[in-house]
Amino acid sequence: MSASRLWAVVAAAGKSERMGEAVAKQYQRLAGRCVLDWSVQALLSVKGIAGIMIAHPPGDVQWQTALRDRSPLVNGCAGGATRAQSVRSALAALQAQGAESQDWVLVHDAARPAVRRADIEQLMASVGNHPDGGLLAVPVRDTLKRSDANACVEATVSRAHLWQALTPQYFPLGRLAQALAQSNAEQLTDEASAMEQIGARPRLVTGRADNTKLTTSADIAWLAFTLGNQAAAEDG
Ligand code: CTP
Ligand code: MG
Repeated sequence: MSASRLWAVVAAAGKSERMGEAVAKQYQRLAGRCVLDWSVQALLSVKGIAGIMIAHPPGDVQWQTALRDRSPLVNGCAGGATRAQSVRSALAALQAQGAESQDWVLVHDAARPAVRRADIEQLMASVGNHPDGGLLAVPVRDTLKRSDANACVEATVSRAHLWQALTPQYFPLGRLAQALAQSNAEQLTDEASAMEQIGARPRLVTGRADNTKLTTSADIAWLAFTLGNQAAAEDG
């Protein structure tokens, strides 16, 4: 058996409905670069990446011009109507390119441009070779309330053992493809949930809280500020 390789999938085929802007969020320019470009560059900076597959909206060609320096390691494929379908298509495209079941894959939201290489490397180091994989996450820090249908408090929920799931999420490629092939993967908002459905218990690895997802227009200014600071720190 050959040594396992490391691949990455960038999920970038969403419709940005909650943003409600004319330009889809993966193509918004923040701190001088497209959101997609920031995300791809972070993954390219990880040592040993064999290739990156961007799942883009079907028929979209913008993803190519959104990347400032197009590395030969980066390719694209048409995503699907759901996130699970997009990731499934990207895994199939990587397999067509030579990726094998025993290889590992980082799955990242295009919409999380502020992820740091150190966090991705920490994720991989913490998971090691454990077949259940893992994901970046942050422990919930605010007091949690459960409401009734009228937005009145019904209960205060303990935040002990509760985390917010971020990306990248990191799994053996073959196991993730198998988990996503299961029928009820359609409603999933992350890959760890698909793994949970086949009995895996992915490891939660504490990441930086500023690896937030561009979700509404209100996130634009703060993410632009964070990315501007990151770029300034790298230049200095
Ligand atoms: N995504 C995808 N394919 C889909 C849906 C989502 O690749 N069919 C990607 C998005 O492009 C995004 C990431 O998954 O980078 C996280 O999803 P989300 O924040 O929900 O993005 P959108 O689905 O684009 O936004 P919305 O739900 O507001 O429409
Ligand atoms: Mg969505």
